[in-house]
Amino acid sequence: PVLVVDYGAQYAQLIARRVREANIYSEIVPHTASTEQILAKNPAAIILSGGPSSVYAEGAPVVGADLFRAGVPTLGICYGFQAMANALGGVVAETGLREYGSTPVAATGQISTLLDGVPAEQLTWMSHGDSVSQAPEGFTVLATSEGAPVAAFADEENHLYGVQWHPEVKHSTFGQKILENFLYQGAGLTPTWTAGNIVDEQVARIREQVGNKRAICALSGGVDSAVAAALVQRAIGDQLTCVYVDHGLMRQDESAEIEKAFGASTGGAKLMVVDAAELFLGKLAGVTDPETKRKIIGEQFIRTFERAQAEIIASSEGEDVAFLVQGTLYPDVVESGGGEGTANIKSHHNVGGLPDDIEFELVEPLRALFKDEVRAVGTALGLPDEIVHRQPFPGPGLGIRIIGEVTKDRLDLLRKADAIARAELTAAGLNRQVWQMPVVLLADVRSVGVQGDHRTYGHPVVLRPVSSEDAMTADWSRLPYELLSKISNRITNEVDGVNRVVLDVTSKPPGTIEWE
Ligand code: XMP
Repeated sequence: PVLVVDYGAQYAQLIARRVREANIYSEIVPHTASTEQILAKNPAAIILSGGPSSVYAEGAPVVGADLFRAGVPTLGICYGFQAMANALGGVVAETGLREYGSTPVAATGQISTLLDGVPAEQLTWMSHGDSVSQAPEGFTVLATSEGAPVAAFADEENHLYGVQWHPEVKHSTFGQKILENFLYQGAGLTPTWTAGNIVDEQVARIREQVGNKRAICALSGGVDSAVAAALVQRAIGDQLTCVYVDHGLMRQDESAEIEKAFGASTGGAKLMVVDAAELFLGKLAGVTDPETKRKIIGEQFIRTFERAQAEIIASSEGEDVAFLVQGTLYPDVVESGGGEGTANIKSHHNVGGLPDDIEFELVEPLRALFKDEVRAVGTALGLPDEIVHRQPFPGPGLGIRIIGEVTKDRLDLLRKADAIARAELTAAGLNRQVWQMPVVLLADVRSVGVQGDHRTYGHPVVLRPVSSEDAMTADWSRLPYELLSKISNRITNEVDGVNRVVLDVTSKPPGTIEWE
């Protein structure tokens, strides 16, 4: 792999993603890893990330010269660049000056693989205090900026490179080009990390892990569980049983789409659809408090899945059902401090009515992947766009998009309005740009309207289109007025009982994306 050493800023994941976008596999390692640990991973190249520290700050991560003498092509970025300069005998000046934001950089005209094909003047994204004032011996200065006398350098012979700016950030206009120059030319790597190869590799790995035993997987309708299941299905066919709990709180046609994508006709996994709508609605009767709704739905979900598990195990006639498939992604792995192999992680599940020593080993075929790679793999596996490019949808489903008691009639009403809004958003080509567009039924609110000479007394629905990167923060999407108007007209005309459409123009914070 290409190893991205994380010096503690938020940039390491971005760098790893950009390397993957160049079709080369990358992994993140913490800066606390020793040189031996790093070299033990047999890196094809190393990238040192930026970080918040000055190399002179107390406790700043130190990079030893031995890392650069190991013969592994290395690129230092920002802090990593300064650490490289420092380790190899260059001078890092504590200027006290800061260069921040979009910054022009000028090439010195020295020939280099790093800046090959990049114009002499380019805009870069900078964020630094100290700067390298003198390159180490054997290094050529490739570029300068106002605040950085040495803004880029290279020791071509030893395949060592560094840039003061952040090539991983889109504001650095030629950033991706520079990363690719380093990877393809500086490190001589071949771009082989493609969705097709990921599928082949994972399929082989899953076969090895699972052997001839059996696995189960809960499908939620979301992208991650769908792609994980499809990968495992490709690997072990009908040794996998997928369980889909239909809690009756899904959107229009959603359950049918999932059944269609995973039905036996497409690939041979067994799909167990548990129709639990009555159970869930029964438990939700009379409940209006959002947290209580969430608790009820969460608990019934687990109970229902456990019953399905028990049934599958009972019907497997002594065959081992030993594996549980989960759609864990790489950012979760990095953020929980993991990053090591998956092999010995065990999950103990309390299966109702079964001896509690039943143990599942996890199969997590997406552990190495970023979200955009998961989608690419899904497409390579032949999953339909409706699943692969699905917007996030909360586990409790429409149950938390009806303000007030959840009933069958209200769900049907909301399903109709939501289907119209989604269809129009897709028709306008904005489906992928908008992060999510919950449609919320204010079931306990009524408003007066007039329709064809008749007074109506119906309910409002709220459109909640948001743009976001990660759902932690969000802004309301500025949808075109024509689109809003069309959605509003159609909903009020076609959905009996809804006579008003309103737009939520609240960012997160202070509002959350969902209303409950
Ligand atoms: P909020 O409303 O907290 O939502 O801004 C952030 C993101 O999380 C989704 N969401 C959930 N997803 N189970 C889920 O799987 C849940 O209980 C749940 N609640 C909210 C929400 O749709 C948004 O993408």
